[in-house]
Amino acid sequence: MRIKILGSGAGGGFPQWNCNCANCRAVRAGAPGFLPRTQSSLAVSVNGADWLLLNASPDLRQQIAAAPQLAPGPDDGLRASPIKAVALTNGDVDHVAGLLNMREAQPFSLYAAGRVLDALGANPIFTILQTQLVPRIELHTEKATPVTGAGIDLGLAIRAFPVPGKIALYLENANAPNFGTSAGDTLGLEIIETATGDSFFYIPGCAKIDADLAERLRGAKLVFFDGTLFHENEMIEQGLLGKTGSRMGHINVSGADGSIAAFEPLDVKRKIYVHINNSNPLLNEFSDEYAIAQAAGWEIGEDGMEVDL
Ligand code: MLT
Ligand code: MN
Ligand code: ZN
Repeated sequence: MRIKILGSGAGGGFPQWNCNCANCRAVRAGAPGFLPRTQSSLAVSVNGADWLLLNASPDLRQQIAAAPQLAPGPDDGLRASPIKAVALTNGDVDHVAGLLNMREAQPFSLYAAGRVLDALGANPIFTILQTQLVPRIELHTEKATPVTGAGIDLGLAIRAFPVPGKIALYLENANAPNFGTSAGDTLGLEIIETATGDSFFYIPGCAKIDADLAERLRGAKLVFFDGTLFHENEMIEQGLLGKTGSRMGHINVSGADGSIAAFEPLDVKRKIYVHINNSNPLLNEFSDEYAIAQAAGWEIGEDGMEVDL
């Protein structure tokens, strides 16, 4: 299995269009130690020819242009794409808006939780993906769903599982308990190579590593994990937004309840942060926080990074 990080940034990307924080200013200026990052997505393939996208970011057009594997091949027909399927972890804009880049009457399959399919179904703009060409397939949790698309068997299966998280920002209801969040709003995905049973985990949004999630990840070969914020209060302290990490539905990297501490006993062989917010000091390769994460065995995801499993 080959996995390619198409976008390692969180919603807004890096730099974010309207953000003038120290990180965004530095990356705009081309300062050493800062890399631009597009929004949150991975691509996966067994044969190198047919690909499954994990989330479809608003930057998908740019991500496809930067990935030769995702362009039509010289022997393909007039209209063709190696992207045969897309699976979504939630309904947030950074994970679904790229579907609109995939109109142009191209067949592929779309996999998501029922709650997310309902949100897409309630929005007429997504009817641009006609269901005859783009079947919408519900991911039932804890069931390995084989991945097919455009008549091709990708040799992959997806086992989705609920993780603590939050309903999509645009669906939040301030009057509902927990803003209206319920099971299925945020999924983790285990992507399984059918022929070998090898698998990895993709969890770009996660509010908490509870006992169930810890047991599921114990001993895993590879995990791509929510690296949104390093510090619970970093958005507030930088004067960017009055929200903590917890309020945003994202676990922090640091702290007693953070992901470094939670992964420490889990014996995960390779762990890579993705969905990194522009406020996060991990975006500065020379920061103390970057050194702390590396010393704890973490890699900081970068756009274009490829991992073979
Ligand atoms: C998030 O991960 O919290 C969302 O991407 C926020 C957003 O939609 O901007
Ligand atoms: Mn996001
Ligand atoms: Zn910024």
